[in-house]
Amino acid sequence: MQTIIPTPFAGVIAAVVLMCATAFTPVTWANDEAGKLLFLKGAAPACAICHTLEAAGAAGAVGPSMNELQPDAARVLNALKNGIGQMPAYTSLTPEQMKILSEYVAKASRE
Ligand code: HEC
Repeated sequence: MQTIIPTPFAGVIAAVVLMCATAFTPVTWANDEAGKLLFLKGAAPACAICHTLEAAGAAGAVGPSMNELQPDAARVLNALKNGIGQMPAYTSLTPEQMKILSEYVAKASRE
């Protein structure tokens, strides 16, 4: 179900998806797709390396499974802004990207 995109194109696709997400903010599926891409590839290092999130097809085992933790958006946002334990702070993400990613993780972890 999940399409594997060669790495050189992933950044471009993520940028395009994010631009769409910004232009059509009320369209929730666009934010869901943008959030998924951020989780899988957009954020560096990718969340998927360390965390399991079944809805995104991620199976990382360094950090806690998002499906078990089911954090709310505020908890994800806090981890992104400040880092926690071995997890780095994601200062390169824009506030809008952090919001999209946090809301996506909160929602997708409950699917
Ligand atoms: C290098 C591995 C690594 C990466 C990459 C990583 N994390 Fe984490 N993450 C961890 C570890 C380890 C913990 C547990 C930290 C602790 O409790 O000491 C954690 C904890 C968390 C928590 C729980 C915070 C809390 O309040 O308990 C959330 C939510 C989270 N990560 C989301 C993300 C997201 C979203 C990304 C991508 C932007 C990400 N992580 C990237 C390793 C990572």
